[in-house]
Amino acid sequence: MNEARQTVIILDFGGKYAQMVARQVREAQVYCEILPYQTRWEEIIRKKPKAIILSGGSLQTTENIPICDERVFKADVPTLAIGFGLQVMVKSLGGVVKTGASREFGPAELFIDEVQELFQGIDNKFMAFMDASSNIVSLPEGFKVLAHTDKTPFAAIGNGKNLYGVHFHPEERYTFYGNKILSNFLFNIAGCSRTWTTKAFIQEQVNLIKEKVGNKRAICALSGGVDSSVAALLVHKAIGDNLTCIFVNHGLLRKNEPESVIQTFKNKFNMNLIAVDASERFLNKLKGIIDPEKKRKIIGEEFIRVFEEEASKLGKIDFLVQGTVYPDVIESGTSSSGLVKSHHNVGGLPEDLAFELIEPLRELFKDEVRKIGLELGLSEELVYRHPFPGPGLAVRVLGEVTKEKLEILREADFIVTDEIKKAGIYRDLWQAFAILPGIQSVGVKGDTRTYKHTVAIRAILSEDGMTGDWAKLPYDLLDVISTRITSEVEGVNRVVYDITPKPPATIEWE
Ligand code: XMP
Repeated sequence: MNEARQTVIILDFGGKYAQMVARQVREAQVYCEILPYQTRWEEIIRKKPKAIILSGGSLQTTENIPICDERVFKADVPTLAIGFGLQVMVKSLGGVVKTGASREFGPAELFIDEVQELFQGIDNKFMAFMDASSNIVSLPEGFKVLAHTDKTPFAAIGNGKNLYGVHFHPEERYTFYGNKILSNFLFNIAGCSRTWTTKAFIQEQVNLIKEKVGNKRAICALSGGVDSSVAALLVHKAIGDNLTCIFVNHGLLRKNEPESVIQTFKNKFNMNLIAVDASERFLNKLKGIIDPEKKRKIIGEEFIRVFEEEASKLGKIDFLVQGTVYPDVIESGTSSSGLVKSHHNVGGLPEDLAFELIEPLRELFKDEVRKIGLELGLSEELVYRHPFPGPGLAVRVLGEVTKEKLEILREADFIVTDEIKKAGIYRDLWQAFAILPGIQSVGVKGDTRTYKHTVAIRAILSEDGMTGDWAKLPYDLLDVISTRITSEVEGVNRVVYDITPKPPATIEWE
């Protein structure tokens, strides 16, 4: 561990807020980790926290307030309790909290009563986003009110030493000085410094990987997606040719994708890359298969088989590089966030492979992974590419997958992406792609009646893919996409637009 790294611990009391806080702390270039609220003090202190933040905002009642280890408030560590976290701190220290809903929720005008360090450099009134949790009736001994709103007398409190609490959410964008308040806490109160930078992270990981791997060898299943690409590049920077990447082209990728992966990693970065064209093999396995779950299963299993075959040709390998990112770690851990991962990671590798894992991105949020990728020289095109499912176009060709259908879909999909990029909205969308539902319908071309495929278009706005809305793409853009697809893609005479949010529909059609 880098000695210069300072850690802020965020105790998560549920809801969406802990990750929002964590991202803002990281953006302020301070490293932080989210731990479940019930984490024992012994474990927290082992991380040598420079500061602690209590975060939470779901509608819990104070009767069953989940209390954290009370030693948090007795230690000499600067602590900021936010929203529901404020109730926890007040109750733990002997104050009284009134059960039931908050008197106010959402934006409210906040008046500062005492500037102190938390509110330094900001106006004495501003809009703040109030939490939905219950109200405080009386403060614990030694605490003073630092701010109020018309309806909430204890909107911010402090003990004049190192404990602060705010009823509002500084991490919400509706809180006008939210960033400044968090910065005041991190830098003026907790004395953190901006040590969490892309350069420092890369250097730290390169050293760690070098130390771990020594002269041994590692492999990586490179998909061309941002996570595996950045992980592979980072490990390559540390151990060079002792890393071999295996790129399995299952024939279900987007137009030009295999070529671009080979060009990037083999030619540009000079990496040891084994590119396997297994398209025919996958197509054979998929022949006659209609059931979506069966398709996924076949692709997943075949992927592992191809990967293992290639890996076994390489001699002794000790390490496997994986692009696991922080949200995966939080979601599969003991998080209080209540998130359930909806999709199965087809295209992933089984856990019982005989390798030790290297997961250099385990601590990073997606936006941080992107920054590292750019710093390491990956193109913006690759770094900001929309998510793409492991089973690829097989879940977008409904029913049986054939070479002909894949070719039609690939061309149509290329046009969708091309036009969306030209319109300058690619990065505003979570995903945009084409689907081949396998429907044929009647059309006309000149004087001739046609009977051809329908292409569906899906464009989604989302934060994390768990829920999403269909994007209200401009009619002009839909018009260009439709015209181009029907005139440029052989075999298509109709284009439709999917106007269903998730839920009830999923993002992918299969
Ligand atoms: P759904 O269709 O479940 O998709 O709304 C949510 C997000 O997950 C992606 N997705 C997958 N990603 N393997 C993946 O790596 C899969 O099997 C898979 N299925 C769906 C999908 O593209 C969307 O971003």
